[in-house]
Amino acid sequence: MSERWTPDSWRAKKVLQVPDYPDAKALADVEAQLATFPPLVFAGEARNLKKALARVSAGEAFLLQGGDCAESFAEHGANNIRDFFRVLLQMAVVLTYAGALPVVKVGRIAGQFAKPRSSPTEKQNGVELPSYRGDIVNDIAFTPEARIPDPQRQLMAYRQSAATLNLLRAFATGGFANLGSVHQWMLGFLKDSPQSRRYKELADRISDALNFMRACGLDLESHPELRATDFYTSHEALLLGYEQAMTRVDSTTGDWYATSGHMIWIGDRTRQLDHGHVEYFRGIKNPIGLKCGPSLKPDELLKLIDILNPDNEPGRLTLINRFGADKVGDHLPGLIRAVQREGRVVVWSCDPMHGNTITSTSGYKTRPFDRVLSEVKSFFAIHAAEGTHAGGVHLEMTGQDVTECIGGARAITDEDLNDRYHTACDPRLNAEQSIDMAFLIAELLKQERAGKAKPMPAAAGL
Ligand code: PEP
Ligand code: CO
Repeated sequence: MSERWTPDSWRAKKVLQVPDYPDAKALADVEAQLATFPPLVFAGEARNLKKALARVSAGEAFLLQGGDCAESFAEHGANNIRDFFRVLLQMAVVLTYAGALPVVKVGRIAGQFAKPRSSPTEKQNGVELPSYRGDIVNDIAFTPEARIPDPQRQLMAYRQSAATLNLLRAFATGGFANLGSVHQWMLGFLKDSPQSRRYKELADRISDALNFMRACGLDLESHPELRATDFYTSHEALLLGYEQAMTRVDSTTGDWYATSGHMIWIGDRTRQLDHGHVEYFRGIKNPIGLKCGPSLKPDELLKLIDILNPDNEPGRLTLINRFGADKVGDHLPGLIRAVQREGRVVVWSCDPMHGNTITSTSGYKTRPFDRVLSEVKSFFAIHAAEGTHAGGVHLEMTGQDVTECIGGARAITDEDLNDRYHTACDPRLNAEQSIDMAFLIAELLKQERAGKAKPMPAAAGL
């Protein structure tokens, strides 16, 4: 793999999950146009995220990554973005306060449009059509025209990402994320739920602490950490033509960066050592993720790490584990041991969604909240046993009151799924389930920290 890398060197390799565009010239025109558009993110921001993730790899912070399975053109509204941002902030506050660790906030947003599919076609009532591959490729409607890949959609996805990112930046730095507003982040439909009461108690304690500091004479307004928050974007960089068009040289370092998002990841279906995705990722300097599913063997993981992070740079590589609640115990310890043995620095993050998808009796693709939680618990227990840091979680979630995953504190049943099942792809935790999850993870983080605390030395001579 020591061959020269260029933003298009992936084209000489085998690439999976490629849409069947009918007009190659139209596709090339769109890619050429995208290449002239402004970058969505800056290299300096990606480097800041890498530094934050380096702290996670050292056990000094926790990564909270989440968002839609697939963003959609139809649901591109300010309320949707605000509600998601608000729930993620609430979760981060819960984790920071209860877990007593800084939380690195990364959204699956402003670019999460391309979806890998297990089959290139989909059958409904005896009719077979090409699969839906995300709004950046084709339309979800089940008609032959809708399913034809259309390159113009890449321009739409770029523009939607830019608008979404613009609003997120405003929310993160324009006052909305001020810790003094911790009470105002509660969503209307969550009022009077057990989660809201628990969250309010926590918000009260934070307000008390802020008031105490103010009374001590601290000028809180002068602390940007309290007034604003760092928020980063991420997506699966599946559509390499689009990614190549958004790959730019950073003028300050001369390095190549993906400017489509701060962090991008390789999906579990496209992580073959000699294929195009790994080739593309090895050349860009962003922090990157690698999905690790049950078929990944420890020696293959080490080879991937050699290619993707040859300098063993902290914060560069996040291993996003997605085994399933019943398989995590069989697979994760071996991977951790291999990585530890070779002295590789990584962030371990748990995606408890993609290994726990089932089809409900009523026919919906769903995820039982208990299984999701069970994989997270095993993830923490395994890291505790191996002496490594359970670094983060990767969730499919929304700020909306949807009914897509069964269970949770306000037990959603199979019958409820039909009420508000809105996802364009996989089932997401709704706002209430997400906050629930944050409280449960905070407990696990607290235990991890308690386990690490050194016993007080016996006071000699007393
Ligand atoms: C996803 O994150 O939406 C996804 C497709 O995951 P994976 O590659 O782990 O299956
Ligand atoms: Co998904």
